[in-house]
Amino acid sequence: MGTDIEKAAALLREGALVAIPTETVYGLAANALNEAAVVKIYQAKQRPQFNPLILHVADAAQLDALNLSLPAAATRLYEQFSPGPLTYVIPSSSKIPGIITAGTPAVAVRIPQHPLTLRLLKTLDFPLAAPSANPSGRVSPTTAAHVAEQLGDKVAYILDGGPCRIGVESTIISFLEDQPRLLRYGGVAVEAIEKLIGPVARPEKGYVDNPVAPGQLARHYATRHPLQLGNAATLIREALRSDPIPRIASISLNSIFPELPDAYQFRLSASGSLEEAASRLFAAMRLADDMDIDLIIADRFPEEGLGLAINDRLQRAANS
Ligand code: TXA
Ligand code: MG
Repeated sequence: MGTDIEKAAALLREGALVAIPTETVYGLAANALNEAAVVKIYQAKQRPQFNPLILHVADAAQLDALNLSLPAAATRLYEQFSPGPLTYVIPSSSKIPGIITAGTPAVAVRIPQHPLTLRLLKTLDFPLAAPSANPSGRVSPTTAAHVAEQLGDKVAYILDGGPCRIGVESTIISFLEDQPRLLRYGGVAVEAIEKLIGPVARPEKGYVDNPVAPGQLARHYATRHPLQLGNAATLIREALRSDPIPRIASISLNSIFPELPDAYQFRLSASGSLEEAASRLFAAMRLADDMDIDLIIADRFPEEGLGLAINDRLQRAANS
């Protein structure tokens, strides 16, 4: 673990796996154009190979070199939100290996906004494939220590860029149809996207659960303890009526539940900021999971802005 960009670059050139910081979550990176290196990502995460990977580049010029281009609506978003927590699904090109796209004609691309990783990407003459650096199905890492805990023995180096500023993964928008389609709620609020390019098709449920979109799995972000999502005050009251009485940890924006000891309550933002709450969500899920409890009860967040991404992650944890 460290901040040595040259070391990270040398290892990636050799085909090794390196964990990289981004503003959303840590990524598990490999040379996207080296299939043997990309195979190591799937092995390390135990990720099913039908689940494609996001291609990370430093800027639009690196996309040109890969014969990829952003459609007009994506370009408008790029000008405002890239580098940043937004991923574009666009038609792929013959330069992109099938293992990146899971054999589909589309590729997901993103320009992450983290100074270390942007410098790394500018140093390299290939793009990086990088899923979140967690075992498949588990909570994503927002610090270098989280990566070390879960995948420490599987990566050659962890580039430590400090805690992730945004804390939930990128918003994913597909530009394959006439109308842009939201595939994952994330770090850029969908309202801000629609302000620039008009209505985007959204998933029918509150969360993404569409088996035809590869990898948008309904079960994900699993905690070891069961997690319930809903009106936390009601859920806590109901749970405390069972026998034996369960030990409960709560996750909420800033609610106080008098039935629970204060040390078991995770309030993600005293001021009620959904951005701050998102940045603290995954760390709180890990801390709650490490406690001697039976159940995590999460309060549904407001259905707007980053609250939509928070509810999406909590709902998928609850489904797991
Ligand atoms: O914030 C992020 O996006 C982080 C950081 C590391 O950049 N990456 C990330 O990767 O969250 P991952 O693999 O954990 O999630 C990427 C999602 C998956 O659900 C995958 O199925 C979807 O993006 N995806 C990737 N390529 C796709 C494609 N060609 N078409 C549709 N979905 C795609
Ligand atoms: Mg992931």
